[in-house]
Amino acid sequence: MGSHFTKYILKNYPDWQVVVLDKMTYAGNMDNLKEAEGNPNFSFIKGDIANAADVEKAIGGGVDAIVNYAAETHVDRSILEPDAFIKTDIFGTYNLLEATRAGKAKKMVQISTDEVFGMVHNMGDEFTEETRFDPSSPYSASKAGGDHLCSAYFKTYGTPVVATHSCNFYGSNQYPEKLIPLFVTNLLEGKKIPVYGEGNQFREWIYTSDYCRAIDLILQKGEPGEVYNIGTRDRRANIETTKIILGLLGKDESSIEYVKDRPGHDFGYAVNPDKLMNELGWKPEVSFEDGLRQTVEWYKKNEEWWKKIKSGDYLEYYKKQYGVF
Ligand code: DAU
Repeated sequence: MGSHFTKYILKNYPDWQVVVLDKMTYAGNMDNLKEAEGNPNFSFIKGDIANAADVEKAIGGGVDAIVNYAAETHVDRSILEPDAFIKTDIFGTYNLLEATRAGKAKKMVQISTDEVFGMVHNMGDEFTEETRFDPSSPYSASKAGGDHLCSAYFKTYGTPVVATHSCNFYGSNQYPEKLIPLFVTNLLEGKKIPVYGEGNQFREWIYTSDYCRAIDLILQKGEPGEVYNIGTRDRRANIETTKIILGLLGKDESSIEYVKDRPGHDFGYAVNPDKLMNELGWKPEVSFEDGLRQTVEWYKKNEEWWKKIKSGDYLEYYKKQYGVF
């Protein structure tokens, strides 16, 4: 999402300058920023938000805004190895808040997740901005920690930070470990796709371009201290999503392998996006079916991009976690 937003800003605001600070973990990929290379308004610094010196280097004399896309994000990895999640998602957020508090940024936007709210069992039971945090995984707990710091910094110091909680995003260039890119690339390779449990859990989906527009609005119009939920109300059981993907790739259900469930698996997420829609005038433009079609097409056309990634450590990790492939 960070690379999508970078390209979105460079395209839509030709007089803005974007500095990307990225640790380039396993999920970081310079190929995602090829389009930006050579643009005089773009610069890249390899570094870690958990290291205050790197943050200082990226911010220099000061910036108009920090948008905190930097995070460890994959729930299954957080179950195996929580350490990096605590460092990046909590301590890293703290460093960015400290820089903002020191006046080095006029505004900070915290990118976070609906997973901090825990889970719901019915699609109609929506999380609002007031829902209390109840995270289930080390990932969502560390994001909740970072988000708590944001609200505490606003209350205590008046630090100008706006927080966001989004549903699941998907689109091109997504590391093939999340449900959609994993299933699409596995099917393109002729492999099975691992559905956790029976696939009854549900998620709410937002396409990359809709998400970029939401963050743009929040960046420019969101008031410090405010919190915005980002959601589309397009909720699908995993098995439904799986069947749409199978259909788009001309495959049948024999490609499904039902595997053991994720420990602490949240059953469902449902986000109430009314505040973002009514106060900032945002609404989603891309339907799930269209977004998925475009996503599948992108992975079909960009085999080189994902084949480079889907090997070595990646396969070891999946074997360890699910005993598949
Ligand atoms: O809700 C927003 C969150 O969405 C983000 O904060 C997280 O960073 C992001 O990873 C995502 O978390 P999820 O756990 O919902 O995403 P994931 O793609 O891992 O899984 C989506 C659903 O699909 C979930 O119910 C688990 C299931 N699943 C996932 C994988 C990877 C499977 O059944 N099989 C799989 O192999």
